[in-house]
Amino acid sequence: MSALLIDGNALSQHMRVDFAARTQSLVAQGIHPGLAVILVGDNPASQVYVRNKVKACEQVGIHSVLEKHPDDLTQAALLARVDALNHDPRIHGILVQLPLPKHIDAQKVIEAIAPSKDVDGFHVASAGALMTGLPAYWPCTPHGCMKMLESIGYPLQGKHAVVIGRSNIVGKPMALMLLQQNATVTICHSATVDLKHHCLQADVIVAAVGRRNVLTADMVKPGAVVIDVGMNRDDAGKLCGDVDFEAVKQVAGYITPVPGGVGPMTITMLLANTLDSAQQSLSAKT
Ligand code: GUN
Repeated sequence: MSALLIDGNALSQHMRVDFAARTQSLVAQGIHPGLAVILVGDNPASQVYVRNKVKACEQVGIHSVLEKHPDDLTQAALLARVDALNHDPRIHGILVQLPLPKHIDAQKVIEAIAPSKDVDGFHVASAGALMTGLPAYWPCTPHGCMKMLESIGYPLQGKHAVVIGRSNIVGKPMALMLLQQNATVTICHSATVDLKHHCLQADVIVAAVGRRNVLTADMVKPGAVVIDVGMNRDDAGKLCGDVDFEAVKQVAGYITPVPGGVGPMTITMLLANTLDSAQQSLSAKT
């Protein structure tokens, strides 16, 4: 049997039609939603990611500003830019693309972003709010994964979810979001003993390691839902995820492809957060 695909492109396009209407409605009320994207250096992958983010803004009518800075930008100069954007009323979301050059303390830069404009959801205030169930901007990638689960009407209550990876950007917030939906959550990582044993118990597996073939078919319970957050290249240079897609799709019930799965959903949730922030600023005005 072959798993059903959860198509991140199709779901994104569907959601973005609604976002275009929301943008128009905000513009009609005097607020043009705006996102500032800061790129430091010339990391090729980051260049592609920020270009896709700016293109997605254009698609739904969100105003976007892409600031490209040289690799040797000082931390003080970057903090000054963030501060200026914090005070810019045309900007509702600020995204500093990671990774940053080594001489810059990324956490310090993230903490400089006003939580009200933290559309990446990386600020410690956003992370703390997610942990305690308070409203905040949720990190876009795990939030996109949750939307994909929602799109197939998957009831998480009482299900066993295994998250492979414990990054602040994906693994940890993913686990918290699944927990909030009453799943029983296991977080696996590089020191986990017998990853296969844990995965075989799972109704839902989220693979977020950043390495090919972390999840193979022998590790998946028949019918499980498999979400692939990875973005890697195979030996031929072709994009692939963390999951051995061709083999795992013979076992899983649902699976997300790479490309065309979580990637577009990450950007879609960035748009959602930016619109929510613009909406908040409108509510604050009235
Ligand atoms: N680098 C890789 N993914 C992301 C992301 O979602 N946000 C930012 N700011 N940087 C990233």
